[in-house]
Amino acid sequence: MAFNKTPKEFRDLVRPDRVHRDVYLDREVFRDELRRIHGRAWLYVAHESQVPSAGDFMTTAMGVTPVVVVRHKDASIRVLRNRCGHKGAAVVGKRCGSAKSFRCMYHGWTYDTDGSLQAVPQRKAYDGTEIDLNDPAHGMTPAPRVGTYRGFVFASFAAEGPELETFLGPTTTALDNIADRAPDGEVEVVGGPFRLIQRNNWKMVIENLNDLMHPMVVHISSTEAAEQEEAELPEGQKPPPEIPLLTSNGWSYDFWNGLRVVCCEYGHSLMGAINTPPDTDPVFVEYADVLEKRHGPHRTDEILSYPSVMALVYPNISLHTSYQQLRVIHPIDVDRTLLEVWTFRLKGAPEGMYRRCRSYANLVNSPSSIGNADDVEAFMRVHRGLENDTMEWISQHRNVGQDQQTNEGVVAVPGTSELPMRNHFKAWLAYMTEEQGNGR
Ligand code: FES
Ligand SMILES: [Fe+2]
Repeated sequence: MAFNKTPKEFRDLVRPDRVHRDVYLDREVFRDELRRIHGRAWLYVAHESQVPSAGDFMTTAMGVTPVVVVRHKDASIRVLRNRCGHKGAAVVGKRCGSAKSFRCMYHGWTYDTDGSLQAVPQRKAYDGTEIDLNDPAHGMTPAPRVGTYRGFVFASFAAEGPELETFLGPTTTALDNIADRAPDGEVEVVGGPFRLIQRNNWKMVIENLNDLMHPMVVHISSTEAAEQEEAELPEGQKPPPEIPLLTSNGWSYDFWNGLRVVCCEYGHSLMGAINTPPDTDPVFVEYADVLEKRHGPHRTDEILSYPSVMALVYPNISLHTSYQQLRVIHPIDVDRTLLEVWTFRLKGAPEGMYRRCRSYANLVNSPSSIGNADDVEAFMRVHRGLENDTMEWISQHRNVGQDQQTNEGVVAVPGTSELPMRNHFKAWLAYMTEEQGNGR
């Protein structure tokens, strides 16, 4: 299918220190993004623990393309387009389950768990016609590349491109750390995610993840509410762990300027996160003991002292290592984005650790969180504002020219620099202008 815009037209939308508003508003740009970015990049699709046995499946989307992630008979994980080779109907309607095969609800075409077409009712009716039902195109065609890193499953619609580990680059350290924090060395998904549809372009969510200039302003209502709650506690009473999770957003600009944000190739970034669990918490002490019995003090210290990190794997996930959160950003339309919030259990850890992770999700990431609502409101205002105003260019000038090149990547100086946004658009432009190649 032809692209809507030429490479030159995309280059005209992105400058080193600003972007044109059409990158957020133009539906043609959005359609091209789906092909050039979501149609090529490695996208996170599932965690292995969601499909433990042959036949186990879950449905999700890569870009706007519905897919089924399924464990095939040979134990490999396949990622299949969730569409019937007959008329295109979505074959699998459930969010997850287990099946020996997939049968389309319309006329009964049936597919094996590797996506191949197994059975067609009245198959003889096609004899002598020009359709070749053995052509794989009539199956639920698989994503050509599927890769797993520490249990996290990624897929790409491009037959060629960088290896998964090359693509992930330094963000592998965050995926390693979330798994290493589990005494058994792996995490598992328990239950479903929170889902929230936002009225804004998907890139506004991505940009907010490393925007360290916003917490102390946009989250002021929840910060002040938590500070007031703390002030009203009886003297000597320790505040519950939820309080610092909210008050930390109100810390000074000096604090945020000091946070380390490393921007890497392919648009990824790693940010030293706040809200490290306090090691005086009895739940954490019990957990650290279990980890130490398994690994000894040196390795335990290594794992727990890895800086609590928010990792952004462009273009579709954000991972919080020390509270085991994973957010998936699904574009729906040029002005609609679905955010999923998944939580992980550290296998082998005391149950209290999982309760703590759920409590973080409820407080910070859920649709009813008193913090997340602030961000969502801001995204919507930006999107509506850009639609209704004549302002053509969006500034990303903050601290241009101060970035620091290191072996790990480019470090934002200071932490509140708009380098992460510039880094996203560097990757965005590379995806949008490369006709072939590794798609970054
Ligand atoms: S659309 Fe699936 S069998 Fe007809
Ligand atoms: Fe925020």
